[in-house]
Amino acid sequence: MAPRKNPVWLAPSLLSADPGALGDAIRAAEEAGADAFHVDVMDGHFVPNISFGPSWVSAIRRRTRLPLDIHLMIEAPQKYLEGFAKAGGNTLVFHAEATDRPAEVARTVRDLGAQPGIAIRPETPLSSVTPLFGSLDELIVMSVHPGFSGQTFLPEALPKVREARATIDREGLSLELSVDGGITVATAREAVAAGASFLVCGNSAFVGRTVSENLAELRAATQLGRRDRGEVR
Ligand code: DX5
Ligand code: ZN
Repeated sequence: MAPRKNPVWLAPSLLSADPGALGDAIRAAEEAGADAFHVDVMDGHFVPNISFGPSWVSAIRRRTRLPLDIHLMIEAPQKYLEGFAKAGGNTLVFHAEATDRPAEVARTVRDLGAQPGIAIRPETPLSSVTPLFGSLDELIVMSVHPGFSGQTFLPEALPKVREARATIDREGLSLELSVDGGITVATAREAVAAGASFLVCGNSAFVGRTVSENLAELRAATQLGRRDRGEVR
């Protein structure tokens, strides 16, 4: 993803916003310093929930210029790539478990002018996607079972994040390393300390206090995580 103002990006997940006031939530999060928006697409098959489709992404696109990180929790992702690319999705992240031809799906995303990303469920080993790293712009390590916001962070995600970070750095790749699910002030720090460069924040952005207070706390947590990693003093 293009030039970065912040070393670790915070991407509020619009699934946790009030759907009846999505425009207000987008404005508030943008003013609070969000780096991107995460849009969870669910089809009721790949996950037991249904959410946003391409027309929602078009509507969101009209409200913000920030990058839109489209998380496709759907079966047969190749059928819908064009729709989400045309709707204005910047990164189209499909699930490794949803296709037998991930390299082909990634290439199609690129041909459509968007950036390809892959996501893995908590039970999917990292080794199943490392051979694809060179052709991807983002890896989402899921730290909850996909389908719902507001779940508890699964710490099993952390060793995968560490291993992915080591591979990315060793091979000099520019892949965005994202963690999605159960991010709080505490787990944001841990995820960044493990090497995450992009945090999806659903309830931690939109629930409780104002989005501005929430993002400020999360931003401070990312700084602590960077310190734990030895990136800053
Ligand atoms: C879960 C989604 C997440 C979710 C995150 O299936 O992929 O993006 O919205 O919400 P929180 O941060 O509340 O776990
Ligand atoms: Zn997501």
